[in-house]
Amino acid sequence: MKNLYLYFSGTGNTKYVIGKFAELYERGSYYSLHSIEHREIDFSRIIGEAENIVLAYPIHDSMLPFIVKEFLESHIEDFKGKNLTTICTQLLFSGDGGALPFYILKEAGVKHLHSIHINMPSNLTDVNIFFNKPLSETARSYVKADRKIALAVDTIRSGGICRDGRKWFSRFSGFILQRTWGKAMMVKLRNSVKISSDCILCQKCVQICPVENLEIRENRVGQQGRCTLCYRCVNECPVRAISIFMKSKPKIQYSRKDYN
Ligand SMILES: Cc1cc2nc3c(=O)[nH]c(=O)nc-3n(C[C@H](O)[C@H](O)[C@H](O)COP(=O)(O)O)c2cc1C
Ligand code: SF4
Ligand code: SF4
Repeated sequence: MKNLYLYFSGTGNTKYVIGKFAELYERGSYYSLHSIEHREIDFSRIIGEAENIVLAYPIHDSMLPFIVKEFLESHIEDFKGKNLTTICTQLLFSGDGGALPFYILKEAGVKHLHSIHINMPSNLTDVNIFFNKPLSETARSYVKADRKIALAVDTIRSGGICRDGRKWFSRFSGFILQRTWGKAMMVKLRNSVKISSDCILCQKCVQICPVENLEIRENRVGQQGRCTLCYRCVNECPVRAISIFMKSKPKIQYSRKDYN
């Protein structure tokens, strides 16, 4: 039976990583790869048919992106008895990022095979302390990420287990350092997309939003309070009119522009 690869990617990092992983691991075998943002796909059916599933997502403040959390919560039954490998992309640190889906899927008896953390460039570009760089200056990060992906594939192929984010310290740090104080803030940010007066109403943000959070209302961009904080719109607005976490205009933008 072919392996199933599922992912969510805000600005393309996670799509890049799961694509590389699948290519190396499958060595030319047929596999299926889908972004969970495509709601027209019958995920219950394809998850039901799979035995081994690889799920990749970016970390958001040591939490699952809301879209991933909601996807898993609505497919708990479908995941019953499956083997799951997780890939969590992050800038630096995600605590127990690779273990998060298992807290939701525990009751489905999912077998946790591997969890892998891959560092990638930052897409949180309205927060200037995060050493943000445009895609053209991130080659070193990609070399390191490629190395870690290859190492993970070798480990798995040789019978080892990848356990990123599963030690007690990861769980403790993910919980204490970020989720305790960060969760309320993240929920609040779901309704905090800020559009500056630079907006030229081009509608790009409306078209690319994976959760249809944005819409044009009375000659301005309005929001519906269901932002998944993917930062796609922040990084793709042609006039940098969007910010979420901070009010400041992003100095640079980062997006691979290939995310779904
Ligand atoms: C809202 C938000 C929160 C983030 N929180 C963290 C974090 O807690 N730790 C970290 O290392 N990176 C964090 N990042 C960075 C992303 O996880 C990282 O850049 C990821 O590879 C983006 O993947 P994507 O392009 O597939 O969305 C955050 C990014 C965003 C947008
Ligand atoms: S992408 Fe930017 S300029 Fe275009 S509608 Fe959205 S906020 Fe306005
Ligand atoms: S509003 Fe922007 S950051 Fe929020 S989900 Fe839509 S594209 Fe992503």
